[in-house]
Amino acid sequence: MSRTDAEILDRDGVNDLDAILALTNTDISESIHAVTDNADAIFTWNYEKGERPGLNKLYEKAKHSMWNGETDLDWSIEVDQERIARESPMTMNTALIAELGIDLSRTSFASWGDEEWIKLAVESQNWSLSQFMHGEQGALVCTAKIVETVPWIDAKYYASTQVMDEARHVEVFAKYLDTKCSGHYPVNHHLRALLDDIISDSRWDMTYLGMQIMIEGLALAAFGLAYQVTPDPLLKQLLRYVMSDEARHVAFGVLSLQEYYTELNSAELLERQEFAFEAAVRMRDRFLQQEVWENLGIPVREAISLFKQDDPELKNQDPFQQLLFSKIVPNCKKLGLLDANDGWLRKRFDTLGVTQFEDWADTGEEYELLDEVAKDRAAAQSE
Ligand SMILES: [Fe+2]
Ligand SMILES: [Fe+2]
Repeated sequence: MSRTDAEILDRDGVNDLDAILALTNTDISESIHAVTDNADAIFTWNYEKGERPGLNKLYEKAKHSMWNGETDLDWSIEVDQERIARESPMTMNTALIAELGIDLSRTSFASWGDEEWIKLAVESQNWSLSQFMHGEQGALVCTAKIVETVPWIDAKYYASTQVMDEARHVEVFAKYLDTKCSGHYPVNHHLRALLDDIISDSRWDMTYLGMQIMIEGLALAAFGLAYQVTPDPLLKQLLRYVMSDEARHVAFGVLSLQEYYTELNSAELLERQEFAFEAAVRMRDRFLQQEVWENLGIPVREAISLFKQDDPELKNQDPFQQLLFSKIVPNCKKLGLLDANDGWLRKRFDTLGVTQFEDWADTGEEYELLDEVAKDRAAAQSE
């Protein structure tokens, strides 16, 4: 028997804005955060390498694709966040607002000129990169847990390379934020709640579903969009390196779960579908970037209604937000989660407005294409 959406999400409606905004991170001065991981560490005495050829191939590939954030990225590039914000096609300005016919008189934005919009863009960037960094640490911890809990040797081997990848990702985002940006933000409540849920679940496949399929699927799409729009050559380079790893990580999730899910009955699959739905909603909720508005002294509700994020119809049509799900949906389909139990998850993804991505290239094929980084590095080293 499926739980209702309200039971799964612990609130009345998927788009209940008051409930979403009522949750904020109140522990912003905490320096460590403990979560019980509820799992047994599993030894296997079956050391047959390559028993799962897909995972073995991925592991061999990963060994050759390690880069070094300290030496492979050109940290001498100067970053001027304000100039970048001015050049970015994503930044609002007074001319654009006039063109769009948006009336800001009688709002908190009435006195805003280009300078304030640039400040908003800079803070949004600080916020996004901070959340990426926190998410990367989530991946580091989750994947270390997978090394312990997955029963297959090929998966333990591969996961160990991902642990190293994630350490590099945390490292380069932290360094970029520290040395090139004007500030950083604590972890967003919705993101931390999702990480807590994933790490505290005792079932090893739930770590994969929450991290490799949902969070990393979204990260891969978000990094891809950021890569395309950023005018900063250093951030572009950094994102390209990170993405080449992430594509492999998502493929690791798909390969592992594809095998395991064939053994599950429909009640067990339903639990996975509910988990995927809850994760999708939490990830969407964090994009309201409420902490940025608070920091700028703008009432959060007002900012959100101005940008029409409180309109369920419009929210579901926001192409940028929808694109973030372009990796998750095909991978859920490939795993059989979209259509199991009479399309339970398909219906939920319909309400989020993201089902149209179901036949987009799934990451299993795509990671092969993202190997360019390794080739570039080999070419650079031979020069
Ligand atoms: Fe990562
Ligand atoms: Fe990753």
